[in-house]
Amino acid sequence: MSKYILAPSLLAADFGILGQQIEKTKKLEVPYLHIDVMDGVFVPSISFGMPVISSIRPITDQFFDVHLMIVDPERYIEEFASIGADGITFHYEATKDPKAVIDLIHKSGAKAGISLKPDTPLEEIYPYLSSVELVLVMSVEPGFGGQKFIEKSYDRIRDLRKYLDEHNLSDVIIEVDGGIGKNNVKDVLKAGATAIVSGSSVFRNKSIEDNVADFYEAFESVK
Ligand code: DX5
Ligand code: ZN
Repeated sequence: MSKYILAPSLLAADFGILGQQIEKTKKLEVPYLHIDVMDGVFVPSISFGMPVISSIRPITDQFFDVHLMIVDPERYIEEFASIGADGITFHYEATKDPKAVIDLIHKSGAKAGISLKPDTPLEEIYPYLSSVELVLVMSVEPGFGGQKFIEKSYDRIRDLRKYLDEHNLSDVIIEVDGGIGKNNVKDVLKAGATAIVSGSSVFRNKSIEDNVADFYEAFESVK
């Protein structure tokens, strides 16, 4: 088993055959499913919400890594946890009280993640890092799949890795989201990421099997 986690983003899946596509990732022992929830306010797009998550919960035990791109996430934390979110990641920019959101996620029985947009200074989330299990570094502007990886994200991942290691927080997962594929995944891992979100590069172009094999090969080569 690799020490790295692949988290396919369902946003790029074919919703007409979502169940079948999830089954494929399950057979390939992909540990996480990344589930992007968008409200049309925090980001321009609207994706999907509770009914979709509830429908797919019975078909797999994979870790549901729910990425909330919604304003005032505290309104919905308990509901997402109750329908089977294993991890809930909210945006630092979307709430007045990040610590309260983290506490609510933990109280609901889920793992807590905090995310930040590419232009939000990294230092702003430092006060919360000892309370979360995961940090989601956005390497594109949240809102759409299929965008280009923002190069300055490498420095942010490196800085975050350094901070975590220096503060006895090395176990906090650094998950990176947006524009990651075969061509740059190794560099993202080398910078210090432990979990990789990928939508287009898992569900588009080649088969899911071939795409996942490319990621696993990259994971093996960076040890
Ligand atoms: C963007 C989402 C991402 C997105 C990634 O707002 O958070 O999870 O689906 O898609 P790709 O891998 O296509 O950039
Ligand atoms: Zn996401």
